[in-house]
Amino acid sequence: MRHHYLRGPIFSTIADPAEADGAAFFYYPDGLLEIGDGRIQRVAPFESADICPDDPAILHIDGLITPGFVDTHIHFPQIDMIASYGEKLLDWLERYTFPAEAVYSDPAHASDAAVFFLDQLLASGTTSALVFASVHKASVEALFTEALARDMRLIAGKVLMDRNVPEALRDTAEEGDADTRALIRDWHGRGRLGYAVTPRFAPACSDDQMRRAARTLSEHPDVLMQTHMSENLAEIDWVKSLYPDATSYLDVYDSFGLLTDRSVFAHCIHLSNAERKAMAQAGASAAFCPTSNLFLGSGLFDLAATEAAGVKVGLGTDVGAGTSFSLLQTLNEAYKVGQLQDAPLDPVKAFYLATLGGARVLGHGDKIGSLEAGKEADFIILDPKATPFLARRTAHVDQIEDLLFILATLGDDRAVKESWIAGTRAYRRA
Ligand code: GUN
Ligand code: ZN
Repeated sequence: MRHHYLRGPIFSTIADPAEADGAAFFYYPDGLLEIGDGRIQRVAPFESADICPDDPAILHIDGLITPGFVDTHIHFPQIDMIASYGEKLLDWLERYTFPAEAVYSDPAHASDAAVFFLDQLLASGTTSALVFASVHKASVEALFTEALARDMRLIAGKVLMDRNVPEALRDTAEEGDADTRALIRDWHGRGRLGYAVTPRFAPACSDDQMRRAARTLSEHPDVLMQTHMSENLAEIDWVKSLYPDATSYLDVYDSFGLLTDRSVFAHCIHLSNAERKAMAQAGASAAFCPTSNLFLGSGLFDLAATEAAGVKVGLGTDVGAGTSFSLLQTLNEAYKVGQLQDAPLDPVKAFYLATLGGARVLGHGDKIGSLEAGKEADFIILDPKATPFLARRTAHVDQIEDLLFILATLGDDRAVKESWIAGTRAYRRA
């Protein structure tokens, strides 16, 4: 198998800056990334690599090589209603989201949408994602078919919802579970695909559905569970009224057996410290979705408190409540959410969350998320000169931290020059 040599600036986090004893990242202004067999074979300063600079196999990279972004929360069938005006969560779901998701009963529509969706991920520099499909089994099949063809490390699930949603979009506890089990059997572990059991959120799932989801999860030890939690105050009141005896929103999931170290809870905005502690103890993760939380007026995620409690955190775009596929734009908003809480997000930490932190949330921190020998070669090339503003602002920047911060603040899909999947270029900016 042919090896590629990429020569250029290389940045990667290798640890959570909050926990690292030594360096949390490396930056080689003139680095070598050697890839072969879909994996990273070597990363080093070029001068130490013992490769002839004239070797015709060297690809000279004008841009910053970084790990591909990992989106820990996004909805595939919401690409047709992103940017819908004026509502908060529960009305937004009824008015815009459910009608848009109903269209995914048509497999042809789902197939077309899957191509668009994965094209957008790659054009935004996102090489892995944890994805909600629609209630329809065929929507997951469409997404997996297309992701398998691209050899992407993608995790997705059929949404479970058997109550409190429009009739046409309901499954039943039994059907939903049968579909989930069939999808796990047919797709989980194929190529780099993985499955996530996906109860939409407590109000949309009967007790029977929640119990079956937990049983299926426990019977498949490397499958994930994804859901929503504590996003919006009206939603939280609704959960209280549905489960008057539960001690908290988290307790509802816990009581059914859905609080595990493979559970990813989107939003986690209005949590108590006791809930954060319980999440940490279980080894569960939170997906921080700043563009969505601001767009729907849901609230400010408290990153400092969540991390202080020991909860794993990743970033989510949460498209279509989120307003961008770009993890750079997501970091831009995450920074502002931090500012409003007197906790500005450090740029190295920001890139950690967008890459290795997300990979750990997906349970794949050993395979993706950083540029280290042996890992799968999912990486991107960012262009600090992508726009006139970026070029002007970055022209005289020499600290990597400053460059990262500017890319996250001014950058978006335009700043993504190339995306590579398993050692192969899968996207190149026009
Ligand atoms: N809670 C339940 N469903 C959804 C959804 O589709 N998007 C968001 N943001 N929150 C939810
Ligand atoms: Zn969501």
